[in-house]
Amino acid sequence: MTFFLAGAPQDPTAIPPILSSVMSKRPALKPYAQIGEAALYLGDAREVMNSLPESSVDMIFADPPYGLSNGGFSVHSGRQVSVNKGQWDRTRGTQADFDFHFEWLEAAQRLLTPDGTIWVSGTYHSIYACGYAMQLLGYRVLNDIAWFKPNGPPNLGRRMFTASHETLIWASKSKKAKHTFNYKAMREGDFPSDRFKRPGKQMRSVWEAFDARESLWPLTTPRKDEKTFGKHPTQKPISLLERVVSASSNAGDLVLDPFCGSGTTGVASLLLGRRFIGIDSDRVFLRDIAKKRFLRTSQQLEAAHSSTPAAPEGL
Ligand SMILES: C[S@@+](CC[C@H](N)C(=O)[O-])C[C@H]1O[C@@H](n2cnc3c(N)ncnc32)[C@H](O)[C@@H]1O
Repeated sequence: MTFFLAGAPQDPTAIPPILSSVMSKRPALKPYAQIGEAALYLGDAREVMNSLPESSVDMIFADPPYGLSNGGFSVHSGRQVSVNKGQWDRTRGTQADFDFHFEWLEAAQRLLTPDGTIWVSGTYHSIYACGYAMQLLGYRVLNDIAWFKPNGPPNLGRRMFTASHETLIWASKSKKAKHTFNYKAMREGDFPSDRFKRPGKQMRSVWEAFDARESLWPLTTPRKDEKTFGKHPTQKPISLLERVVSASSNAGDLVLDPFCGSGTTGVASLLLGRRFIGIDSDRVFLRDIAKKRFLRTSQQLEAAHSSTPAAPEGL
């Protein structure tokens, strides 16, 4: 297992093993850490993606800032709480937010292989800007998934509906792409707690993620064991990412998440035998959560391979 950190003595020209098969002459930025088949980069998503080789990534999952942390209030466990997720989630205004989404989506499109696909997750605050930018850039929208969240906080103002879903746009790099869709795995797979999924029938574009292994409550937030190393304010549940990764990529593929936060996409990718690149501009999320989750997942997978009983996170 390879494991190194920024600041540790290392050859600055060394190509991270995860990228060596796809590396061009273009110098890539140095990864912050590499754990097994996963590499983490600290920096702005646009800058890091622009330093990586063109047409090298099979699938992207992106959960960019929503621009909703502007001093509002919500309810959690019956108490009024601030909706602020962090400075990174403040809006800079409609045009500036759109320009940001356009720029990172353009960088992501350059990275995708000709048949690659991208998933973009967002709330109503951000998803329309992302979708419009994707249309301008020539992506082909394949689906918009409504991820149903039955335990969303009530609407305090009582002047509109309670927001109960997030949207995931799934798109291919271009209209010519022959994208991967593991249709059979989605149709025949076991999703016992998804009320919208009937056994043996096609999967619909409304998803409910529920983890029967944990409790009887629909899994709309990460389970306790997914938060061992602390919790990211907008951490996605692994079960959601397992579905995304297994639907649209194959074992050995390279998956990238430009806003990886706590590294959920990376954990799901490692569990499913994919390689992974994660980027985040916040050192604390990478150092305190993502890196530790990857290390634990790699160790658990190694233990499982050497037939020592171990339950990897999310399995
Ligand atoms: C919505 S969160 C992603 C959460 C992630 N899906 C998870 O499961 O933990 C967005 C992340 O984007 C990061 N971020 C914000 N602006 C960024 C930028 N310009 N480049 C890279 N990362 C950025 C934030 O630090 C935050 O962790």
